Amino acid sequence: MPAEIAVFGSLNMDLVVRVPRVPEAGETLHAHAFMTNPGGKGANQAVACARQGARVAMVGRVGSDAFGQALTASLEADAIETAHVATAPASTGVALIMVDDSGQNRISLIAGANAFVGAEDLARLADDLAAARMLLLQLEVPMDAVLQAATLAHAKGCRVVLNPAPAQALPESLWDLLDLLVLNETEAALLSGLAVDDIAGAARAAEALRRRGPAQVILTLGSEGVVACDAAGCRHFAALKVDAIDTTAAGDTFIGALCAALARGESMDAGIALGIQAAALCVTRAGAQASIPHRHELQALATAERPAAVTLR
Ligand code: RIB
Repeated sequence: MPAEIAVFGSLNMDLVVRVPRVPEAGETLHAHAFMTNPGGKGANQAVACARQGARVAMVGRVGSDAFGQALTASLEADAIETAHVATAPASTGVALIMVDDSGQNRISLIAGANAFVGAEDLARLADDLAAARMLLLQLEVPMDAVLQAATLAHAKGCRVVLNPAPAQALPESLWDLLDLLVLNETEAALLSGLAVDDIAGAARAAEALRRRGPAQVILTLGSEGVVACDAAGCRHFAALKVDAIDTTAAGDTFIGALCAALARGESMDAGIALGIQAAALCVTRAGAQASIPHRHELQALATAERPAAVTLR
């Protein structure tokens, strides 16, 4: 069966150090633990979609090295199509991640092979888009390639979903190609130029971004929940209360669960509620792909725990 969701983006090996707190400049601290985990925003979102039951194809690049082999094998373990994960004349992308005792992370990226995503990968993507109904994009591969991938998908009538992370300005021509924009408060503040300090501010920023092109804008606010805006207005969904130990990949998990729900025909609000549940479980576990929940884990949760929408005025 062909993939219903194509993900065009990054694969990284995450090198994670767990620290009591972030060291000051010039300070040396003993860490609690070190681990390597498969990550990368593109690959994480592909895994999050697949673990919610979607058929997924990944298009991207790794180096001809052990990290690249491990990342490809990790996607295949989740039944993700990797025929279009090519190699590049560079080392596999790496993310250096520090996670402190409050579960917050700080990430430095070495793009490596991800920086080589370009024309040949777009040709490979075209094969996948022939059957896919949705394309997921992030910004850990070159912006030109993102723009061309969105153009290709839009022309084929595919739903284009962008997670503009890491935060950066978008080319003007990209806005009109987007069907759904999913972003956090930092990204929303940068792209809208508005303060995102509370739920009302988030709704104002999401609405301003929606007016630039995407039919739907979803702004994730961590423990403050989610704000979603479309032509009918904005609504707020509360977050679930959990003890977070590692927030890495929470946004990727939300997006993957949401898109998997949309791909099987569920409503936007049902997809957002599922995404909130998936992200809540994700932050209670360590790692990126290691922490992304499977569908059966969410089905086991009580329906009473599904957040409902509250209309914002
Ligand atoms: O969104 C989390 C991801 O960001 C990590 O897995 C890391 O690879 C960085 O790309």
